[in-house]
Amino acid sequence: MFTSNHCCYLLPLLWREKGTYYALHLGGTYFRILRVLLGDQRSYLDVQDVERHPIPSHLMNSTSEVLFNFLAFSLERFIEKEENGSDSQGVRRELAFTFSFPVKHTSISSGVLIKWTKGFEISEMVGQDIAECLQGALNRRGLDMHVAALVNDTVGALSLGYYHDPDTVVAVVFGTGSNACYLERTDAIIKCQGLLTTSGSMVVNMEWGNFWSSHLPRTSYDIDLDAESSNANDMGFEKMISGMYLGDIVRRVILRMSEDSDIFGPISPVLSEPYVLRTNSVSAIHEDDTPELQEVARILKDIGVSDVPLKVRKLVVKICDVVTRRAGRLAAAGIAGILKKIGRDGSGGITSGRSRSEIQMQKRTVVAVEGGLYMNYTMFREYMEEALVEILGEEVSQYVVVKAMEDGSSIGSALLVASLQS
Ligand code: GLC
Repeated sequence: MFTSNHCCYLLPLLWREKGTYYALHLGGTYFRILRVLLGDQRSYLDVQDVERHPIPSHLMNSTSEVLFNFLAFSLERFIEKEENGSDSQGVRRELAFTFSFPVKHTSISSGVLIKWTKGFEISEMVGQDIAECLQGALNRRGLDMHVAALVNDTVGALSLGYYHDPDTVVAVVFGTGSNACYLERTDAIIKCQGLLTTSGSMVVNMEWGNFWSSHLPRTSYDIDLDAESSNANDMGFEKMISGMYLGDIVRRVILRMSEDSDIFGPISPVLSEPYVLRTNSVSAIHEDDTPELQEVARILKDIGVSDVPLKVRKLVVKICDVVTRRAGRLAAAGIAGILKKIGRDGSGGITSGRSRSEIQMQKRTVVAVEGGLYMNYTMFREYMEEALVEILGEEVSQYVVVKAMEDGSSIGSALLVASLQS
């Protein structure tokens, strides 16, 4: 169903060296910094400090220098606070850079940006080595910190999932954007023919947000949203299933209805503003359980739609339901596609060369999932999980465990750095 559109990770997934490791995660809406302590015992993993901040919107279309200076400055502040004046002279800190955008890897700790997604638009950075940019900014600040790994968020989540449970072979992010990665046999990856890894496996970052097929149920709202976005004709799947876009699809439906009828009263100028309705508001509308739908009324008022009757408020809930249900079901189809590819859907898999026993025996399979959309929007999560059971069937579903992985991408990336030290 999906093809890896650019890169394969060659990760040892060997655990690991005790010590303190840092991770910086540049996602779509937030950036996170955290510190992880690993002890002697395999099970000793202590996430000591986590900072999570919204990415200031002006940085998304600034310059490479401004963006990386800001990240280096934030790291410096984090370290100062957390080391609290203790003498750290001569201590080199190892950093994982979780960078949630498409990268062509040149090594575990370097890679060039292929393109921006999720509304970022710093064109001078395309083609540049992202880890080098961050290292340069850290050096300019005189921070003794080494960018030891450049990791996609899905790969970080897979690493943490694998650390806790070696049956984890797929990781998916449903956040501002959406993407998946999975563990593939090296000989099944055409790009990597002849390459040997000790485990015989590799992590493939699919960048599935860019998946496209004429079978996707695309509506005129999707087409308009895409055409008016900063990355038109790109990331078609992501635009139907991820947190950055669901709110805007709902907004477009309400706008069209208010243009075509008078049920919403006079047309609100606010409603014409792209992205004015956020997906967290869609979730709040959808999950409003007050008898008079007061939360729905409040959110509609914020976008200039006041005093609509209960019947119309119910209609708005229905719109959110339809858009989110479609997203959840498409997301489930994506996961089922991966399970089919690796022979974990009960069918034996698309890739030839699997042994008979592999085909016949359904193995326990863990899918690690993270991202704000999945964590915070209950109805999205329920639709996704319900559809996955529907596609796989009750029997196979018993072997497929979907596990939430909070901060998995950052913590898992730090673990990868630890594994590189050994
Ligand atoms: C976007 C990025 C991808 C990332 C995903 C989830 O699709 O291109 O690299 O994994 O968002 O954050």
